[in-house]
Amino acid sequence: MHETAASAAGHVAELVRAQVRSKPGSVLGLATGATMESVYADLVSSVRSGALSLSQVTTFNLDEYAGLTASHPGSYRGTMNALLFDHTDIDKNRCFLPDGTASDLTAEADRYEALIAERGPVDLQLLGIGRNGHIGFNEPGSDLESRTRLVDLHPSTQEANKSFFSGEAVPSQALTMGIATILSARTIVVLATGEAKAEAVAKALSGCFDATCPASALMSHAHVHWVLDRAAAQLL
Ligand code: GLP
Repeated sequence: MHETAASAAGHVAELVRAQVRSKPGSVLGLATGATMESVYADLVSSVRSGALSLSQVTTFNLDEYAGLTASHPGSYRGTMNALLFDHTDIDKNRCFLPDGTASDLTAEADRYEALIAERGPVDLQLLGIGRNGHIGFNEPGSDLESRTRLVDLHPSTQEANKSFFSGEAVPSQALTMGIATILSARTIVVLATGEAKAEAVAKALSGCFDATCPASALMSHAHVHWVLDRAAAQLL
């Protein structure tokens, strides 16, 4: 448990650095959301100072909104370009996200899942947590066996993400890795900061799988690091 969100994010960046230094060709699972922004800023500084190279890594993002092109600032591809990909030595040809503009989104979900199976497993998966306990865009009610698929977003999730859309409507659907896809990573690092996450964190860590809190599925994985600040850990 960390006193501040900054210290928690710094710890997550350190875990990523350690992973990449021990295996330069690591497969990293990446997440979006405001919580991850300082992790990526930290990694950008490390690459700029020469302390880290991402040139050999492969990355898979958890999810992408349906219908948004990379040039849309709210898209996760656009977000990852702006926060990390455009500022490091990473090879963008090996940075994968689901394509939310594909004409057949179900086929695109299957293609993405197959690509993860082919190039994976993910060595280290970064994960945030939604206020309602979602991981990726696996909303409450998601199946433990779920794989990458097209999902409807809960209105509360659209509301929570509206700050990224400056007044425009938040898309109502997304492609997301499933819970089983996420659990196939070798190691998972969950970063949760701020009191808005405290309830979801407490529910996720309370015992066995509860479908109303998808993050509780992480209890069944042997290598999960929960990195929390004091505010997110306050109900534990
Ligand atoms: C979105 C993402 C999730 C992320 C969550 C929390 O819904 N799809 O992967 O964990 O937001 O985001 P934030 O860090 O902004 O609270």
